[in-house]
Amino acid sequence: MTTKFQMLGLGVMSLVLGVSLSVSTAYAETESSKARGGQLYDKWYAMIGASAPDNMHPLYPANGKYASKPQSNWRCKECHGWDYQGANGAYKSGKHATGIKGIDGAAGRNADEIVALLKAPEHGYGDKLSDADLQDLATFINAGQVNMDNYVDRASKKPLGGDMAKGAAYYNTMCAQCHGRDGKQPKGMKSFGKQMGNPWEVMHKILNGQPDSDMPALRALERQVVVDIMSHLTTLPE
Ligand code: HEC
Ligand code: HEC
Repeated sequence: MTTKFQMLGLGVMSLVLGVSLSVSTAYAETESSKARGGQLYDKWYAMIGASAPDNMHPLYPANGKYASKPQSNWRCKECHGWDYQGANGAYKSGKHATGIKGIDGAAGRNADEIVALLKAPEHGYGDKLSDADLQDLATFINAGQVNMDNYVDRASKKPLGGDMAKGAAYYNTMCAQCHGRDGKQPKGMKSFGKQMGNPWEVMHKILNGQPDSDMPALRALERQVVVDIMSHLTTLPE
């Protein structure tokens, strides 16, 4: 039989445990926080099992191509880009252009400042994401971005200095079991041959994973290995 006293004890215990649990669930390394933040940046609502808001994001331009698509215009990547450079990067022109700047200038910025910015009414994520989610986003932004211009040639969209032969070996041993040698698996996924039309998105997903899927986040790979793999992807059939 559980006495009131024991129950009180349990309550205090769980308070203490609650504290130590919240400490132990935050990993001692930051790579998983960067990767999770990167996936939230990609499609936060898929990560937390929520549906997209049904109103347009307050900062999205009313004349933008995706104004009537909250499932797009609430994604961080829609305004700030897969290359993190917003209007200075791949979203300078074309249907995703909004004129909004990137997040690259916020690399190294204090995490609390980033969280405050995301919670402010303009961004409006305070009632949508948990503190842990916002922290992961901040970790990705202040410490997890890569300068994609070092790996992808902006004009040709080709990986810079990739070794296709090495890339084929990496791909066939690390990716093919899920994606098929021809890069057309799983069923329903746009083939890698086609996806390489947007190498920045591919690089973001290789490093951080694909939201709500079994795709591992491969941040641990040397960047050169990622570039070699992307070079191989360009040789795969569309
Ligand atoms: C609908 C468009 C839109 C979406 C979606 C959006 N932002 Fe922003 N973001 C903006 C605008 C506009 C600014 C302000 C840019 C300026 O100061 O000129 C901004 C600024 C920022 C900055 C500061 C950049 C700097 O250099 O000062 C960060 C960091 C940022 N956003 C992160 C995010 C994250 C993370 C998400 C997703 C959770 C997100 N944003 C979603 C429009 C958006
Ligand atoms: C354990 C299985 C697994 C492994 C290993 C794996 N992936 Fe994935 N990957 C997935 C799944 C599942 C998806 C989601 C597919 C979809 O969107 O339909 C995915 C998605 C992706 C995407 C985004 C696709 C899209 O539709 O936007 C890219 C890019 C990608 N993987 C590249 C790679 C590369 C390159 C490797 C090897 C270095 C790799 N993956 C290894 C399972 C895996």
